Amino acid sequence: MEGAIKCARKYHAVNGALERVRIITFERAFHGRTLATLAAGGQKKYLEGFGPVVEGFDQVPFGDLAAVKRAIGPTTAAILIEPIQSEGGGVHVVDNQFLRELRELCDTNGLLLVLDEVQTGMGRTSDLFAFQHTGVTPDIMALAKALGGGFPMGAFLTTAAAGKGMTAGTHGSTFGGNPLAMAAGNATLDVMLAPGFFDKMRRNALLLKQRLAEIKDRHPAVIAEIRGEGYLVGLRAMVPNGQLVDALRAEKVLAVAAGDNVVRLLPPLIVSEAEIGEAIARLYRAATALEHAAEKAQVAQEATG
Ligand SMILES: Cc1ncc(COP(=O)(O)O)c(C=O)c1O
Repeated sequence: MEGAIKCARKYHAVNGALERVRIITFERAFHGRTLATLAAGGQKKYLEGFGPVVEGFDQVPFGDLAAVKRAIGPTTAAILIEPIQSEGGGVHVVDNQFLRELRELCDTNGLLLVLDEVQTGMGRTSDLFAFQHTGVTPDIMALAKALGGGFPMGAFLTTAAAGKGMTAGTHGSTFGGNPLAMAAGNATLDVMLAPGFFDKMRRNALLLKQRLAEIKDRHPAVIAEIRGEGYLVGLRAMVPNGQLVDALRAEKVLAVAAGDNVVRLLPPLIVSEAEIGEAIARLYRAATALEHAAEKAQVAQEATG
């Protein structure tokens, strides 16, 4: 994401618009933990204790096109958004129409559209990139997570036009482009781009969604809503989300909390139908355990009350 932000600023600089440095972002976004990306995300709990907030980000309410328009000025360089707000927004899918409108705003105002596909990219939503099923193409996109199939690596991609300022030597890092990471990325692409990979994933993702919907219907006191796309799933919890994470962990299912009292399920992209069945069985057990615990607590309260 640092590279993507630098690329957006550099594009305007080499076009002679040195003043165009500001980036519009959205409330409840999460773009990473470097100083600049903390500022881009704008979440107080992550910024606290790290000194002055990096300048250059204008945050507007999520989904508010009028606010985006108001925020655009002569110093604006780009609009930055996650196709699905995950960490902060609690698996909140951005409306396609909104993305199209952002694209239009960028085109009419000479801005770059930057997508943070760190979480959604590399297959997570059943397409190689989430933007592919939105009808909107970004100018710059950040990737990581599944890019190396478990081996740590990140990258940003740009169109030829948007990347024109990033000539050799303008960006780099100690481990950037290292041969082991590149080999891991290459091997990951061999798997993902093999015929049928995403078809199978789409079928399994649908199955997962249907089975989760059944759990929600049977345990409405635990799960209120199923959100997300592909294997980026959010369960909005009726109990505190940390309790659901703990109950799942007791069943040896790893999940992670997100904003809006959501629990994220992020299965491996190669998960099998049988493994989905096993995970669902464990989710049922976790939901049942939480319901029993709530009933017990209520009985105890009535007894003492
Ligand atoms: C949407 C998004 N962007 C960026 C990042 C990168 O974060 P970090 O700087 O912690 O690697 C993450 C990590 O979870 C993410 O979910």
